[in-house]
Amino acid sequence: MLYIFVSGVLCTDWLVAYQPKEICAVRGSSVVISCTFHYPDKLDNKNLTVEKVMWSQGRKQFFDGPFITESNNRTHTGTKFEYVGNKVHNCSLQIHQVEQRDSGEYAFRFETNNGSWTGKNATNVNLFISMTTPKVHEPIKEGDCVNLTCMYNCSSAVMWFKNRTPLQEESSTLYLRDISFQDSGNYSCSPKHYNRPLSEVVRVNVEYGPRNTSVSVWPSSEVLEGSDVTLTCSSNANPTLNYTWFKIDGDSCLEMAYQAELQFNVTLTGNSGKYFCVVSNKHGRQNSTILSLKVKALTFLITSLLRKNVFTMTVICGCLT
Ligand SMILES: *[C@@H]1O[C@H](CO)[C@@H](O)[C@H](O)[C@H]1NC(C)=O
Ligand SMILES: *[C@@H]1O[C@H](CO)[C@@H](O)[C@H](O)[C@H]1NC(C)=O
Ligand SMILES: *[C@@H]1O[C@H](CO)[C@@H](O)[C@H](O)[C@H]1NC(C)=O
Ligand SMILES: *[C@@H]1O[C@H](CO)[C@@H](O)[C@H](O)[C@H]1NC(C)=O
Repeated sequence: MLYIFVSGVLCTDWLVAYQPKEICAVRGSSVVISCTFHYPDKLDNKNLTVEKVMWSQGRKQFFDGPFITESNNRTHTGTKFEYVGNKVHNCSLQIHQVEQRDSGEYAFRFETNNGSWTGKNATNVNLFISMTTPKVHEPIKEGDCVNLTCMYNCSSAVMWFKNRTPLQEESSTLYLRDISFQDSGNYSCSPKHYNRPLSEVVRVNVEYGPRNTSVSVWPSSEVLEGSDVTLTCSSNANPTLNYTWFKIDGDSCLEMAYQAELQFNVTLTGNSGKYFCVVSNKHGRQNSTILSLKVKALTFLITSLLRKNVFTMTVICGCLT
């Protein structure tokens, strides 16, 4: 709309217009500064033609160079700064592989056979830098607070991501307060509307003591003597855990093993009883639920099976008589 106004009313004036005023560029990307320029058709009864077009970076060099692109009749391709305009009204500039030192103001200048003009209100290319965290005390524990900060020189809002999923926060600092284990993840940021993570990733690893500690048994808590049994101790914790198995023996506890799984072949006399595990890491310890294991005698089974058969036969016999 600005262009229509410019070309419709002021086409007899000298003018350079940039769009947008500020570019938020991401490192490694390619950006285009859209630019249009205008000049009188005639000056002092002389038809004007554009002889030279050039771009400069940095305020000091706007008028006298050195210029980053300067052409008489052809564009510079294959270079970092590529003039993608022409010598009529389009003066757009493309910057490839944006890096930190490309930040700053850019201005277009053109020279005709009778006078030259430099666009004054230059476009600012700002670099979207990266994310930093102030040094956090390692390890991050539950209840801690951590501020993640997105560093950039753009005026746009930022967008935050956790494990590549957008978060609600739009300010440049993401304040994680009263951290819980669910806040663990890979955080990154980007300019708003860019919609994908761009900064480097900051890993938040929240440590916590064991929770949800329980014991499970395979194949069952009632087994026949001679069977193989596996007891498994499971728990949620970060970092990983130490396990200790106990068997309750009267008033005392017998320490049995130091790994997550306990496997044995049960005997009638030795293995019935109550088991539990204790899980610990540097942030705490937790006792599991208690598991009662019952070992049944094979003879007991045979006897009961026989009793059943006897009973059945009795019934059958009763029918026959
Ligand atoms: C994090 O930022 C908040 C405000 O945004 C501030 O109150 C708090 O002190 C900061 N915490 C740390 C650990 O820097
Ligand atoms: C961000 O802008 C400020 C002032 O405009 C400047 O001093 C600083 O060097 C810029 N930072 C980067 C990383 O470009
Ligand atoms: C403990 O178990 C509950 C229920 O399954 C679950 O919601 C919670 O995330 C678990 N806690 C941890 C620390 O994993
Ligand atoms: C956890 O188990 C230990 C045995 O190692 C015992 O001394 C302690 O009392 C138990 N704690 C709870 C809360 O049951």
